[in-house]
Amino acid sequence: MSCYQIEGGRPLDGRLTVQGAKNSVLPILAATLLAPGQSVIHNCPDLSDVSATLDILALLGCRVDREGDTVTVDASTLVRADIPDRLMREMRSSVIFLGALLARLGTAELSYPGGCELGPRPIDLHLTALRTLGADIREEQGCLRCRGSRKMRGRELCLSMPSVGATENAMLAACGCPGVTAIVGAAREPEIVDLQNFLRAMGAEISGAGDSVIRIRGGRVLHPAEYRVVGDRIAAATYLCAAGAAGGRVELTGVDPDHLTAVLACLEQAGCSVDTGPGLFALECRGPLRGISPVRTAPYPGFPTDAQALLMAALAGGEGTTMFVENIFDSRYRHVDELRRMGADIQVAGRVAVVTGTGRLRGAEVRSTDLRGGAALVVAGLGAEGRTTVSDLRHIRRGYDGLDRGLRALGADIREIP
Ligand code: EPZ
Repeated sequence: MSCYQIEGGRPLDGRLTVQGAKNSVLPILAATLLAPGQSVIHNCPDLSDVSATLDILALLGCRVDREGDTVTVDASTLVRADIPDRLMREMRSSVIFLGALLARLGTAELSYPGGCELGPRPIDLHLTALRTLGADIREEQGCLRCRGSRKMRGRELCLSMPSVGATENAMLAACGCPGVTAIVGAAREPEIVDLQNFLRAMGAEISGAGDSVIRIRGGRVLHPAEYRVVGDRIAAATYLCAAGAAGGRVELTGVDPDHLTAVLACLEQAGCSVDTGPGLFALECRGPLRGISPVRTAPYPGFPTDAQALLMAALAGGEGTTMFVENIFDSRYRHVDELRRMGADIQVAGRVAVVTGTGRLRGAEVRSTDLRGGAALVVAGLGAEGRTTVSDLRHIRRGYDGLDRGLRALGADIREIP
């Protein structure tokens, strides 16, 4: 099992084009099922979650091909509507296939997605939304047997909380429901807007994404599309927090700075300077990060839960005290124990974590606990004194297309060793 070896304490300096967004490309790949024919997706990152999604598409009968960062999916002939347990366990966000299969085939069968490192991952909001559209969903021995048949009709559905996945599942299912669907209380993330833009390219009549009510006139015949996925705002936040931890200046392209407003505001408050230009922005950090006002994770456009561990790792090596409140997931502080091995002073009580910067952290042998927690350990290692090794890279590979390669482009001393 390989690991990252990081020699910390070197300021970063360089320019990087950020990968395509993992949390955009996954629902967009599921959406290719909505129309027979060949769709072409550009700026598709090379991630294990993307490979898992392509495996599912191929199993369903699609012809899948990959050429660099371009993926083609020919969904002309689907041969089944069920996803086996082993593939569902590989990636819980495969639940997104539910809406797409119901829209295309009127039926779907998949096992209940398991929990993950962030705690239980319920899908009650997904099921309630699809049932409101008329789907008949039976939960038997951990398996979801869904029949949409021709009963499904567009109607108003309310999400009791702005779940990203439930919003996406409802958007995809609604494309197959004659009539108008209104998703009230929808998630507003940029990845939802990206999915809407792809569906529009397929000929769907959909509007409102990015706001809290999304309307879809479903039942139209859709066609395949060619599309370029938006830049990954969380991967960008990772490189920004790396600069915050190690110091120096990084320039990022390929991602919209407007998608990172909350993260940039925190880094500026901590003492970094930010310049934004058309399609490019730079962050400079001279001197240790200061403590900032409480960081409360919230649905977009609030501070993203996916950046919580990343910012915590950068602040842990700075000065001053910052309180974090994790409002989205029940168990998203698993990286704290590993940061403590590096000398971090972090007190956790339930959803609250109080980080007291100890000046430089110390390099140590640490283990990734989850995707963003693992990336946070890399961020911490870049600012720490001495050598850090980060093991169990499978978590990081789920969401980063060559995190070490990107950081080396910014001047970091990081390499993968067996
Ligand atoms: C998406 O997960 C992202 N994943 C997550 O990114 C991200 O952290 C999350 O949205 C929040 O922004 C993908 O897009 C593939 P939710 P999702 O449904 O859709 C609860 C990463 O690191 N909930 O918005 O699963 C749920 O338990 C990953 O890239 C219900 O209670 O997130 C959680 O506490 C991690 N019932 C909260 O809502 C439901 O039916 C937010 O979940 C659904 C969710």
